[in-house]
Order: sequence, then structure tokens, then C-alpha cells
Amino acid sequence: MWVYVKDLKKHIGQEVELKGWVWRSRSSGKIAFINLRDGTGIVQVVVEASSVSTDTFQNAKKLRMESSLIVKGTVKEEARAPGGVEIHAKEVIPLQIPKEDFPINKPDHSIEYLMDHRHLWLRSRRQMHILNIRDAVLKGIRKFYWENGFIQIDTPIFTGAIGESAGNLFEIDYFDYGKVYLAQTGQLYLEAACMALGKVYNLGPTFRAEKSKTRRHLIEFWMNEAEVAFYEHEDNLKLQENLVSYIVKFVLENAAEHLHALKRDISKLEKIEPPFPRITYTEAVKLLQKKGFNIQWGDDFGGDEETEIAKQFEKPVFVTHYPRKAKAFYMQPDPENPDVVLCDDLIAPEGYGEIIGASQRIHDYNLLIERLKEFNLPIDAYDWYLDLRKFGSVPHSGFGLGVERTIAWIAGLEHIREAIPFPRTLYRIHP
Ligand code: 4AD
Ligand code: MG
Repeated sequence: MWVYVKDLKKHIGQEVELKGWVWRSRSSGKIAFINLRDGTGIVQVVVEASSVSTDTFQNAKKLRMESSLIVKGTVKEEARAPGGVEIHAKEVIPLQIPKEDFPINKPDHSIEYLMDHRHLWLRSRRQMHILNIRDAVLKGIRKFYWENGFIQIDTPIFTGAIGESAGNLFEIDYFDYGKVYLAQTGQLYLEAACMALGKVYNLGPTFRAEKSKTRRHLIEFWMNEAEVAFYEHEDNLKLQENLVSYIVKFVLENAAEHLHALKRDISKLEKIEPPFPRITYTEAVKLLQKKGFNIQWGDDFGGDEETEIAKQFEKPVFVTHYPRKAKAFYMQPDPENPDVVLCDDLIAPEGYGEIIGASQRIHDYNLLIERLKEFNLPIDAYDWYLDLRKFGSVPHSGFGLGVERTIAWIAGLEHIREAIPFPRTLYRIHP
């Protein structure tokens, strides 16, 4: 019976079949040890010359790193083994034995080399743990929305209107239509959908031609966006802190072994629960000035500023009410001070930067026209978006969560490139 390594404990004493790859192997005289990995874990296979055929023993000795194979044998309890079991082999069947050394075989390969071999690097234990955490984050996101009555809306990748800002768009030639863009955000489409379905979300790739080469920027990254009709600024903040806390808890409950394997300090994650602290942009500027930053009211924050703000708190912190001019065209002005907007950035702890960008949206037709002009955006391309303000317009709010930044924070990764299977960065699109 074919079983996976993670399930071996349920089969103690039984004969099983394992399918996988050689993680490590060694042999001496009459005994060979194979560490077999199958994507769910690693188990030691013991091959004794005295209890297998000559063929099987010779096969076992021929194996090298990343050979693919099938092993048949008995599951034995073994307290000293990592998973509490080992396999006493009856038969070892090599499927394909590499003719050369596996390229990822040293602890000190350079990051460039590892990225060049990303397709093979994925087989390392560290990457396996990270990808399991990514999977848990994505499952947690979907489960949160499922439990909270949201409908998933898949927003398009090709878009005719600029969704966020003109600076970092990928342009594509689209038949007779001319130039279109790869989506920077699905927000505008979610705004349309929330007027149809109330509470909606998306989850998919977005694209930004960012010239920044930082440990927080990808060119292609996944975003989870939510949009809710009748939600105002305050409702929006609550939704965000509930979502982020839910994701962290979900990962702690379902992927703790992977966090431990990465030596993540779990105690920091256990503190993540609502409510999150809040400061206004204006307060944040004062705080930064006090710390010696050269920043004026009106400037946007960079990575260093975000890290300094985050240092003051153990939980993610909302920075709210940014200057209108520092943010996107669609944000609703604060009725108490029209120079600032009803928005927030959620800054993760421990220097992981902005994980959410959010706002209440302008729902007044004339004000939106005014803003589109102010931002020099082509009104024609927004005819459909403006329609939403002509037919039963209501206050509404939403946000976008950067999936890879969230994973980097939860998993404790130094660089965002490990948070996605095949990262696209300024200088890399291969493999
Ligand atoms: O703050 P941003 O630009 O917000 C929007 O796009 C809104 N339209 C979302 C909305 O309200 N529906 O992007 C949202 C998040 C950021 O907070 C950040 O976490 C992530 O997306 N992000 C990036 N992640 C990796 N690489 C990049 N180049 C990123 N740019 C943004
Ligand atoms: Mg932002």
C-alpha cells in the first residue's frame, strides 16, 4: 500500500510502499541508509544485506542524492528517529538515478546561484517549510472569508483603466484596442461587484513595474483584496485586524511544525489579536521627527520610516489619515479635514513593512470626477467606474493585503523572494 511519510505513524508494524527521492544516503559493508523524502516529510530507510535480495542491496548502494525511487518495507517504531519511525526495507526500486551531482548540495551556495536553480532549490527542507506556510496563509484567507459571508470575485488581469497609480504599470498591446495594463489591483472591479453582492474579495496575482530592488518588493505578487458596500473607515479597520489575526492564528494552528522548523519566534505571533494600535499619519510624522528622521508633513513613508513606526508596537499598527496628495485618487476625504483621507496602511511588526493598503472610497460622482482630473487620469476609461456612482451609490470601503509580505512576516523571512515559488524581481524572471 502506497503511503506518505507524514502518515507512517498510523502504519507501525505494517508493510508499506513509499515513493519519493533520496534526500541523503550512505552505505557500509552490509548496511545502507537512505533518507527518503516524498514532499510530506523525510524518513530513514534501513537496508540490510542479510534481509534483502542482492539486487535490492546493490540498488540501494547505487543511489545518490535526488534519485527517484520506490521502497517497500515494514514500518518500525524508532524513538530516536525524527518522525518516531523508520522503514526496514524489503525492496528498493530506483526509478531514475542522476548522472551528475545534485546542484544544491552545499550549505553555502550564494543567493544568486540558489535563485538560478530555484526549480531545484524548492526541494530543500527550508523551502518546503516556507511553501507549507504559504499554503496555510492562503487557506486561512479563504476560510476567513468563507466564514464571514464574503463572495469570491475573480478580477481581471488585463485592465483598461489605471487602478492605483501611473508610475509602475506594465503596458500590453491588446489587439485593436491599443494599450492596456496588467492589473496593479483588482479594487475597481471589486467596487463594482460589492454593489452587486455586498461583501466580496479576490485573491490573485498583481503586477507592478517597480524599479525598487528591496527585500519587500516583487514585480509579480499576490494580493488579497476585500470590498464591502456600506462599510465606512471604522468598519474597514475592524475587518482588517480580524482578518490578519485570523490568518496568524490559522497558521499557528495548522502549520506550527513548519514555523518551528524555521526557528520562528512563535511567542511574537501569539500576541497578534484584535484590537491593533492606531496612529494617524500626522502623529507618525511627529514621532519620526522626534527620532531624528528628516521628514515633512506630506511626504510618503519609505521602508526605514515604516520600520521605526513598527518598533513602537508588538502588534501590527494602523497608520491612518494620510495626506490626500500622497495617496490614490479614489480615497474619501475626511469630513473633518479634507486635506487627509479616510485610509490606512497596516504596518507589520519586526520591520516587515506595509502589509495592507486600505481606504474608504469616494462615492460622490462629482467629487470623483474632480479627483480623476486632479490626477490627470482619462475620464473616458473610467466611465464604468463612474456609473457605480450614478446608480445607487453608497459609502463603501476595502483594502488589499500583500500576500508575500504577510508570509515573510509570519514565517520570519529576511527577504520576500522566498515567500513565492518562482519570484519575479527587477533582475530575475528565470526560472
Ligand atoms: O497599498 P497598495 O498599493 O494598495 C492597493 O493596491 C489598493 N488598490 C488595495 C485596495 O484597497 N483594494 O497595495 C496593497 C498591498 C501593500 O500594502 C503591500 O503589502 C502589497 O500590496 N504590495 C506589494 N507586495 C510585494 N511587492 C510589491 N511590489 C508590492 N506592492 C504592494
Ligand atoms: Mg500602499
